[in-house]
Amino acid sequence: MARIAVVGAGTMGHAIALVFALGGHQVRLTDSNPATLAKAQGLMEKALATLVAGGEAPPDWTSAHLSQAVTRHETLAETVDGAEVIVEAIIETPEAKRTLFAELDRLAPPDAILASNTSGLDVFPLVPAARQRRALIAHWYTPPYLVDLVDLVAGPECDPAALATVRDMMVAMGKQPIVMKKFVPGYVANRIQAAIGLEVQQLLDDGVATPEEIDAAIVHGLALRLPILGVLAKADFTGLELSRAILANKGYTPPSVRGHSETLDRLVKAGRTGVLSGAGYYDWSGKSPEALFEARDRRLIALKQALREIGTMAGLERSE
Ligand SMILES: NC(=O)c1ccc[n+]([C@@H]2O[C@H](COP(=O)([O-])OP(=O)(O)OC[C@H]3O[C@@H](n4cnc5c(N)ncnc54)[C@H](O)[C@@H]3O)[C@@H](O)[C@H]2O)c1
Repeated sequence: MARIAVVGAGTMGHAIALVFALGGHQVRLTDSNPATLAKAQGLMEKALATLVAGGEAPPDWTSAHLSQAVTRHETLAETVDGAEVIVEAIIETPEAKRTLFAELDRLAPPDAILASNTSGLDVFPLVPAARQRRALIAHWYTPPYLVDLVDLVAGPECDPAALATVRDMMVAMGKQPIVMKKFVPGYVANRIQAAIGLEVQQLLDDGVATPEEIDAAIVHGLALRLPILGVLAKADFTGLELSRAILANKGYTPPSVRGHSETLDRLVKAGRTGVLSGAGYYDWSGKSPEALFEARDRRLIALKQALREIGTMAGLERSE
């Protein structure tokens, strides 16, 4: 059991706190906004109940149990007191992160590992010199209590032992860490997702297909193979000569990065900003966001459990 401090209790922070708690760690959670910190309790309880109902958390994990495993604290000093790992999950602005890292330098135990959840910032230049030895990125995906991938990036001066500690901790919690050789914005999965996003927005803006048809192509075409094969094992099954011929034919031109999409602009202007507003590409207004999140999580749990049963192709080439 390690003592974990999670700084920032928003979309990611409260959910990461829950993962560490379920992993058997003692967690302290804080947020500069007291209302967000208060709200985090209910969000963790709701996510925990979904996990318990789906068999992904032990049934004896009640709200009372959770309150013992994750305590909420108003001050940073109290939150990081005695912390072995500090998860930084605050807003994605360099100034805010720089200020926080300076405060942590003052308040945190000298050997605490600093693990930033940044989506796209090279945070290492923002970390004070004295903390570089224990600074790394551990980037989670939402919802982190269901999506197992965690991208790990060591800072330029990070002690390999600090990275190994965090990697081992992730593995012990059932996560799937990948250790990247260097920081690149978007890591691996989000870069690929960004490429898909560009393509989808272009198809919509050009009126090639509707949102329903595009999602049908993904769900019934791409998605069935992806969980079993990934992209590269799928290429092995297709045959690499075809991959080479497709490249040589130059039949596909990726969309250019225009920095905006007419469809997206129109939706946002109309207040259709996604599930929380009741509509986005789809009209979700028949159900509350809570009900929709729960419905999503239930399906993700069922898929995870099925995939665990089925297994992936990666690794099979050596075992059979
Ligand atoms: N939302 C995602 O899907 C996602 C996924 C992976 C990584 N991230 C990254 O995680 C981080 C947090 O993102 P989020 O989506 O949870 O944002 P969020 O806005 O939901 O939460 C951020 C929280 O940080 C708090 N905060 C700001 N400054 C603070 C400070 N100095 N001390 C304590 N709390 C402070 C805010 O009050 C807010 O509640 C960002 O770096 C983001 O890029 C987000």
